Amino acid sequence: MNRTLFAGKGAGAWRAYVLAAALLAAVPASSEDYGDTPYVQTPQNVVDKMLEIAGVGPRDYVIDLGSGDGRMIITAAKKYGARGFGVDLDKRLVVLANKLAAKAGVADRAVFYQRDLYKTDISRATVVTIYLLPEVNLMVRPKLLATLKPGTRIVSHDYDMGEWTPDLSLVLDAPDKPVGRDFKSKVFYWVVPAKVSGKWRWRLPAAGKSEDSELTLNQMFQKIDGTLTVGGRGARIEELKLSGTSISLAASVNDGEAALRYELSGRIANGRIEGQARVSGNRGAQQLAWKATRTEFIEPAHTALKPPSYPSYQQ
Ligand SMILES: C[S@@+](CC[C@H](N)C(=O)[O-])C[C@H]1O[C@@H](n2cnc3c(N)ncnc32)[C@H](O)[C@@H]1O
Repeated sequence: MNRTLFAGKGAGAWRAYVLAAALLAAVPASSEDYGDTPYVQTPQNVVDKMLEIAGVGPRDYVIDLGSGDGRMIITAAKKYGARGFGVDLDKRLVVLANKLAAKAGVADRAVFYQRDLYKTDISRATVVTIYLLPEVNLMVRPKLLATLKPGTRIVSHDYDMGEWTPDLSLVLDAPDKPVGRDFKSKVFYWVVPAKVSGKWRWRLPAAGKSEDSELTLNQMFQKIDGTLTVGGRGARIEELKLSGTSISLAASVNDGEAALRYELSGRIANGRIEGQARVSGNRGAQQLAWKATRTEFIEPAHTALKPPSYPSYQQ
């Protein structure tokens, strides 16, 4: 294990090293390769909180990138009835995790492979869990965004993902934490956003007749903003929200006597949005179907962000 990785972390870091070494001594020695993140286990109460925040259930397929002793996937299978796998470079940890899965009676639903996380196909996941290091999270981020289905949930122990602000974060007590001095853990949660930037078009009533609306969206991760025209007139966007494949929009057009408010919500799939519209004005309100089509695709701004290619602490 590389001592320099723990520089500045003091006694807590060495306690972690001793704990990890003790754990590893229980499995046959072979290659010990931890890539760019050394082995430190997530305390069980933090594992439980991470899976709870992700809302893991029997329909989920959970993948832990850098799975250590397998506790994340084993807990997801045993406590929540989910399926999934973990990958780790360290063969001894993979052997241990498969043994612990068998001991927990979930070997058919929780499997561990010796594999590099960067070379692992994660497209099947509905939930991804990570306990890596800050720069490693940034290195993994493009893979997560490029390969996970929109709507997939990601939970990270202790470290965020830079410019990709979490949808939720919290700090909790972690009395069994083997690193640090405050016995606290942070948990970060994201939902992979659908790509929505570009132009969208639909027809809805405006001033007594059906008119074209055109929405132009800019996107940075799950944050979106844009402009809307209804029948060629500018609308005021009051609310615009994207979460996974769900989009909602509230806007109003003030066209003299015919002020209209639009409340739209729908799901994005295959270049279309399908959902409901509520159109209200001084003549009352109407509930209608909302069907929008993408007329121009623009790659979201976050795709161009350059992550580190290698963690600086290993250079
Ligand atoms: C901090 S530990 C987390 C273990 C476990 N997920 C947990 O939360 O208890 C990080 C793990 O990632 C593994 N790892 C580091 N780089 C990896 C890579 N490129 N591919 C697969 N595993 C890797 C290490 O061997 C280590 O076991």
